[in-house]
Amino acid sequence: MVQFDFHPRTRIAFGPHAISRVGLIARELGFRRTLVVADPGIRAAGHTTNVLEKLTAAGVETFLFEDFGVNPDSTMVAAGAAFAAPLNVDSIVALGGGSALDCAKGINFIVRNGGTMADYRGYGKASTPLLPMIGVPTTAGTGSEAQSYAVISDPETHMKMACGDPSAAPRVAILDPDLTITAPRHVTAMAGFDAIAHAVETAVTTKRNALSDTFSHQAWRLLSDAFERVILHPTDDEARGAMLLGAHFAGLAIEQSMLGAAHACANPLTARYNIAHGLALAILLPHVVRWNGVVARDRYAALLGSPRRRVRDEDPAEMLARRLEDITVAGHLAITLSDAGVDPEGIPALAELAAQQWTGTFNPRPFDARAAAEIYRAAL
Ligand SMILES: [Fe+2]
Repeated sequence: MVQFDFHPRTRIAFGPHAISRVGLIARELGFRRTLVVADPGIRAAGHTTNVLEKLTAAGVETFLFEDFGVNPDSTMVAAGAAFAAPLNVDSIVALGGGSALDCAKGINFIVRNGGTMADYRGYGKASTPLLPMIGVPTTAGTGSEAQSYAVISDPETHMKMACGDPSAAPRVAILDPDLTITAPRHVTAMAGFDAIAHAVETAVTTKRNALSDTFSHQAWRLLSDAFERVILHPTDDEARGAMLLGAHFAGLAIEQSMLGAAHACANPLTARYNIAHGLALAILLPHVVRWNGVVARDRYAALLGSPRRRVRDEDPAEMLARRLEDITVAGHLAITLSDAGVDPEGIPALAELAAQQWTGTFNPRPFDARAAAEIYRAAL
């Protein structure tokens, strides 16, 4: 039996047009001067203007920061903190994909506590609680709006630093499926596969517990059912809603259960080969599931929802790996490491980096550089 202590920190406002309530929610939380950290890629869709107008109409003064990229690094966070420092803001609204959410949390750490992101690596290092934040995801992916961690890259190594604090979790997550409809198909696919990887990895870690299982399993059901539908029919509101909730639940599972070998192997691919996070996971996850199968068979069977039926003659890890491969095909993400430009000579260096990833320590099968090399070779 695994103990847990679950304190829900983030209120969830879910549904079509939920974004129309952002001004009222901000007022309820007492926001007066708000830093809006918005993904520059969504401005053309009108979401940023819409949120700024709603906040202004509710009497909240806004200050817009958009000067950051995907995989925000500590330099971008420092620029955001320098922008915010003289403004005397009392709150933050983050709008966009995981990058916007993470960048906003990073800025929050520095604005309130000074220093640089590396000072907050780990958990609970903010001596002053962070400013209250509203998180508004425009992709169904990281589930960052459910989490108390900011994932910020080191600008030199490009490796990710996980910086967590209880007060870094958004006070409110506004989950409006309409906001995700404007994302290009490849963004929907990569973000969606990231969420699926969160559901699959959290379901088997050494830290999983009864509560994280609840979130992991429901996330898997929602995401695996809706993924192909949002790719084929981008305006399917029901499917978009299922993806957004699934990504949020998977994010909640990470809070309890952490992640595993697929994320440990994916991070060096992003850092060294600039392979997008969701694509790196699509390349790796089926192989990680097969590799974990020897220790996680029953957990994978439970995730598939068929612990007794059908699996007598079939290996649930193989069944799950094939299902994941079908999903990568549907999302046009089915490539190999070789296709992505990685040759066999590059594997030892990648494997060394993967073995240093904190997230690998929670994988159900003990994970080290040799294990990472085996997984990378399988994915070539
Ligand atoms: Fe991820």
